[in-house]
Amino acid sequence: MAKVHVSTHPLIQHKVTILREKDTDSLQFRNLIREITILLAYEATMDLELKPIKVQTPLAEAEGFELQERIGLVPILRAGLGMVNGIWELVPQAEVWHIGLYRDEHTLKPVEYYNKLPVAPTVQVVLVLDPMLATGGSAIATVDILKRWGANRIKYLGIIGAPEGVKALSEAHPDVDIYLSCLDKHLTPEPEKPGDPPKGFIVPGLGDAGDRQFGTA
Ligand code: PRP
Repeated sequence: MAKVHVSTHPLIQHKVTILREKDTDSLQFRNLIREITILLAYEATMDLELKPIKVQTPLAEAEGFELQERIGLVPILRAGLGMVNGIWELVPQAEVWHIGLYRDEHTLKPVEYYNKLPVAPTVQVVLVLDPMLATGGSAIATVDILKRWGANRIKYLGIIGAPEGVKALSEAHPDVDIYLSCLDKHLTPEPEKPGDPPKGFIVPGLGDAGDRQFGTA
């Protein structure tokens, strides 16, 4: 079964609280997404493989390590884009392969619109990036695409997850570990009256992570 890691790091909890606040503006929202992703990536990369190497210091030869595996970042467009730069600061050599999906607002099913993966996998470890794990449909579809591509070590990094999405993703892909900052309560139901939020949003969540990052709310 998939391991689900919900961070207890105080910095993550502090930053996610500001992220949720409805009056946090786009600039601060983008900065927080980047910072939280760095902290999450620290937790999600604990088991990367190393190979021993030797380097020459000004004084002597030293034994050290370098990353053995090639790492791929797969942001799910649009909202996952904001998570790339934080990880690039830690792993500048990571390759970035974009997957474009949007969620149909009526069916909540993911619709694929962009995929330029090369024929054969070029990386050994893939980190799927998307701030919001709601129904889990987008994450499952992305992992399906990556597995068809040939990726076999895949991790999912998200900022906020709903129990429904965590269950769906871990059942569909039990080999994909899930790293989240927070596990929220539930998804919004079908609206009953005007003014109710649309269905399928995480509660309490933070609203629409794509719109809030890109100023398109
Ligand atoms: C949001 C979010 C996830 C997806 C989550 O994207 O960023 O990709 O919905 O929902 P799910 O778990 O139910 O699939 P959206 O479709 O709003 O696209 P956007 O990132 O372009 O705004």
